[in-house]
Amino acid sequence: MCGIVGVLGNHEVAPILVEALKRLEYRGYDSAGIATVQDGRLDRRRAVGKLANLSDALVHDPLAGKSGIGHTRWATHGGPTVTNAHPHQAGRVAVVHNGIIENYRDLRARLAHRDFHTETDSETVAQLCEEHMDQGLPPREAAVATLKDLDGAYALAFLFQGEADLIVAARKGSPLAIGHGDGEMFVGSDAIALGPMTNSVTYLEEGDYAFVTRSGVEIHDAEGRLANREMRTIPAQSTQLDKGGHKHFMAKEIFEQPVVLSDCLSHYTGAEIELDFTQTDRVVLVACGTAHYACAVAKYWFEQMADLPCDVDIASEYRYREGPVSPNATAIFVSQSGETADTLAALRYVKEKAARVVSVVNVPESSISREADLSLPILAGVEVGVASTKAFMNQLGVLANLAILAARQRGTITPGRAEELRETLRALPGLINQALACEDQIASHTAELSEARSVLFLGRGPMFPMAMEGALKLKEISYIHAEGYASGELKHGPIALIDNAVPVIVFAPRDALFDKTVSNMQEVMARDGKVWLITDADGAREAGDGTWATLVMPQVDPILAPLLYAVPAQLIAYHTALHKGTDVDQPRNLAKSVTVE
Ligand code: M6R
Repeated sequence: MCGIVGVLGNHEVAPILVEALKRLEYRGYDSAGIATVQDGRLDRRRAVGKLANLSDALVHDPLAGKSGIGHTRWATHGGPTVTNAHPHQAGRVAVVHNGIIENYRDLRARLAHRDFHTETDSETVAQLCEEHMDQGLPPREAAVATLKDLDGAYALAFLFQGEADLIVAARKGSPLAIGHGDGEMFVGSDAIALGPMTNSVTYLEEGDYAFVTRSGVEIHDAEGRLANREMRTIPAQSTQLDKGGHKHFMAKEIFEQPVVLSDCLSHYTGAEIELDFTQTDRVVLVACGTAHYACAVAKYWFEQMADLPCDVDIASEYRYREGPVSPNATAIFVSQSGETADTLAALRYVKEKAARVVSVVNVPESSISREADLSLPILAGVEVGVASTKAFMNQLGVLANLAILAARQRGTITPGRAEELRETLRALPGLINQALACEDQIASHTAELSEARSVLFLGRGPMFPMAMEGALKLKEISYIHAEGYASGELKHGPIALIDNAVPVIVFAPRDALFDKTVSNMQEVMARDGKVWLITDADGAREAGDGTWATLVMPQVDPILAPLLYAVPAQLIAYHTALHKGTDVDQPRNLAKSVTVE
């Protein structure tokens, strides 16, 4: 997703802006640019592709100035070209934008007399602001008048010719933080971007706009009233971006899982969760992508452990389907970033209807966290790799705790069984460590996997969503087509794909349905299919013969096995991507946080 930075500094800002943009690279982007004010004059440099290209452009054609704004663009309206890259400039105004201006066609029509240069929705913001200035409004008032005309979602930063001590920042739908320095001020999409410059941060709230100068910030709410927003001190570790000796953030995050899961579980062991599942008639779980698969696993837990009906929905479908929502439902929204536009919109849709709106998020100051009645942090720490790994793990950790809580409150499991499940959870970080030790064994098969044109993942019960998550991880970072199926569904269609060029990865701990999954595996092998069985020692003993590969995981209570089997799923994707030589941490076309529809 696009990233925004702004600096009113005491030194040359071009290198500072580029460094700050580097810290936003993890969000995904396909072009970048900066604008500065020098001797009252606005100027900008932009480049397509990685930030190195922008740095090169700046070496050949430096940009001076102590005030500036910068942007990494993830193309939505118009391809990734230099012309479409931000900052957009119209006369005396330069603008960087994250989000979508939904009424940009109307605005363009209204401004048809002006000279538009790009295919973007964002340029309308700069043109509109310049139009207001042409009509006599000074910069601050022109920016505020512009905001009034915009529909859609945005984080915006405006920079003005002749104004070396002003950035106007605004937030509606996309987060924006103001950083406080010593005689310097900053603007950033998140605290991570601002990390090296300051750890004193004020988050704008929905509808806020701010006049930022070197001496401070004046924030107004959506109605234009002066607003007091808390200044927070951000702990250094939550803005640190280092790979900890790994080649990629994704690898670091996979290997962090025992520690972050253990931290998360200890937090929820000690914490009283203020939720009463005795009065609720169903659980509604809504999310996107990997977070949606975490919800799909949790459905098995809520239904099997707590005898509680559970609907799982993809947020982009849920928000428009207008399905009935029981007033007694507990609606749970799961999101790593807490800013996913569809999940946030679904939360807002359900807020008036369900008894209780709960969020399970990684970023505590995010919109989804703030707008829920109860927010449960997953405590995974900053996740930089676009492919979500440790956040998935900790989403499962929190949801498992909730399902056990629901089961105890509703009397559907005995205290003994609840303790057994908690004991299994507590043992999982150790088991995950054992699974991580299988890395070399996994890597030894991924060269061959990387040659595949298509890969199927199969699983039953809670391993079915794990199969879908395994397929998502593989396609995201290796660009190999992959699908996750319920094992029993194989013969209803996907079996037509089977030949010796389509590897089939089967997640199957030795559980009550193991024999059925083995039958499905046999159907694949009978058609010359290559099966990679991921199971435990009992499963390998019973069904490991004749497979292309068999990986033995530690023994674990099958109902909680998805937390353990997530590890081979992630490592398979990671090592296959290494063979393919793809950009693991910033795979093509993907953004870390999807703040547009
Ligand atoms: O920030 P969120 O958890 O709401 O993001 C949801 C999805 O966009 C995200 O899980 C996406 O599917 C990841 N790239 C998966 O690895």
